Amino acid sequence: MGKLEQQISDRLAKRETDQSIRSLSTDKDRVDFYSNDYLGFARCPALRSEVLEIALAHEEYTLGSTGSRLISGNDDFTEQLEKDIAGFHYAESALLFNSGYDANVGLFSSIVQRGDTIIADELAHASIIDGARLSNAFRYTFKHNDLESLENKLKASKGNTVVAVESVYSMDGDQAPLTEIVQLAEKFGASVIVDEAHAVGIFGAQGRGLVCQLELENRVFARVVTFGKSLGAHGAAVLGSSKLRSFLINYARSFIYSTAAPAIAHLTVKRCYERLQNGNFQPAVHEKIRTFKKSVSSFSHFFLPSDSPIQSLILPGNQRVRQAAEHIRNEGFNVKAILHPTVQQGNERLRICLHLFNHDTEINTLSQLVQTLL
Ligand SMILES: Cc1ncc(COP(=O)(O)O)c(C=O)c1O
Repeated sequence: MGKLEQQISDRLAKRETDQSIRSLSTDKDRVDFYSNDYLGFARCPALRSEVLEIALAHEEYTLGSTGSRLISGNDDFTEQLEKDIAGFHYAESALLFNSGYDANVGLFSSIVQRGDTIIADELAHASIIDGARLSNAFRYTFKHNDLESLENKLKASKGNTVVAVESVYSMDGDQAPLTEIVQLAEKFGASVIVDEAHAVGIFGAQGRGLVCQLELENRVFARVVTFGKSLGAHGAAVLGSSKLRSFLINYARSFIYSTAAPAIAHLTVKRCYERLQNGNFQPAVHEKIRTFKKSVSSFSHFFLPSDSPIQSLILPGNQRVRQAAEHIRNEGFNVKAILHPTVQQGNERLRICLHLFNHDTEINTLSQLVQTLL
């Protein structure tokens, strides 16, 4: 075995020893309590037929975009979609990225420079952290949702300072105290960027997100919305000023150096947004969350506090949480075991995602199963 081969083999062996090895699974034929398809759009037959019918009838909905947006991959439809998305979220402008990962990496790596500072919540998504790393700015984290910790980091910051938070945290499901964070950042002249990946579709009128719900649109520097969660599609957008949009077109490398998504993907995003705008799915999804919380009320202290579809039950230890997920799978339900190092040691958990399409009986059966594991 060559030296490099040996190195990767040792690192994989370490993951095996730690019980943290990741592997892909194709197994989908269980009740879905693990996907981000909170509103069921990804599986909606009517939406699928609509998109396919339109795509078949109009040859401009090509299967490939043929190039990056700056070369051959741009068109009027894409630009109109960006305007529609910006309008929906009450933003001045939007710029599409191929994924939320790309959006965060492109945004955070480009907007600050050496000598500036990025302060991120310690639970911020890997894409925020990776973007910040690429920026060459000073980097700090503050304790999760802790304003005092944030204030201490703001006092130590240098240059232009950006505070990075998620409005709904992807692993814990809780919300950031956004109004207070924005107030604090304003006091220090810092700018706030909010990743709304898990808030879109769930919070705010018609699912516009938590920033809109709290009327902070004009007080945050930028927002990242993703299409792969509640919208049931794929891709993302950065929302902000027109100047920010121009800046990203010039400086965000994950935007510049990547083939644009195909028109058929943009068509899907457009129809998903129309469905969100014309529907009123939020009361029903919050009713599902209440049903779940009622069904686990006698052991709710094992769960992290959350009013979102993400409900995490702490079961410390990779082995324990893996076995628990396996047991639940054997009973016909897909839930995800979240292991260390994705979360801190001792915070391993079963991450249960609730959906509009989960029947109350399924929710109750899952709760009973979970209770037997405690
Ligand atoms: C908070 C947050 N931001 C960004 C992303 C990345 O989005 P995407 O899956 O579209 O790359 C995710 C997805 O896991 C996320 O949870």
